[in-house]
Amino acid sequence: MSDILTMAMPKGRIFEEAVELLRKAGFPLPPEFDDSRKLIVDVPEANMRFILAKPMDVPTYVEYGVADVGVAGKDTMIEEERDVYEVLDLKISACYLAVAGLPGCEKKGINPKVASKYPNLATKYFKEQGEQVEIIKLNGSIELAPLVGLADRIVDIVSTGRTLRENGLVELEKIVPITSRLIVNPVSYRMKDAQIDEMVEKLAAVVEEEKV
Ligand code: PRP
Repeated sequence: MSDILTMAMPKGRIFEEAVELLRKAGFPLPPEFDDSRKLIVDVPEANMRFILAKPMDVPTYVEYGVADVGVAGKDTMIEEERDVYEVLDLKISACYLAVAGLPGCEKKGINPKVASKYPNLATKYFKEQGEQVEIIKLNGSIELAPLVGLADRIVDIVSTGRTLRENGLVELEKIVPITSRLIVNPVSYRMKDAQIDEMVEKLAAVVEEEKV
């Protein structure tokens, strides 16, 4: 097995914070990393290769071993239930998952419709609450669903709360706090343990420093 460490990075809102954290931990990421459209970036100085994936797909790349490690939101970990190790809470991109809807939607009807990017998580949550709902899977702009009558409620990420506010929606229940995690392929963890341990140590030191 090659000793190059491949890391799957989530494109989008977690990306910037993850790159900043890696740089603080001493990984020499080139400037092209920040605004390039390249999906694979080699960093030979660090003996690393980065692959840039959709956030929800990062655990998949890591489970199949095409990436040794990855940065994944706890939300995707809960939704995807992939066979990977979660080795470090990076404490970045903090947000939470919540149930929301239009004011008054808490008056529960029969078999209400719930829109979400997280159908597995939402199904499990409502089962635990003992409420029967119909889950409608959407891929983004979830807040639109109750506004146009596609769903009664939504299960989605709340970060600043701005999207809910600006669309006249209210939060009904908090489900779970979310941060990004460093995840590892179990086989890679055996084969490249020295490299991975070193990465975990460096990142853990920065996470500890950043603690307020
Ligand atoms: C996320 C999430 C909410 C929004 C919450 O969407 O799904 O829509 O951010 O952030 P806020 O509380 O700061 O307003 P994202 O922008 O990732 O895009 P998406 O709607 O396409 O999923």
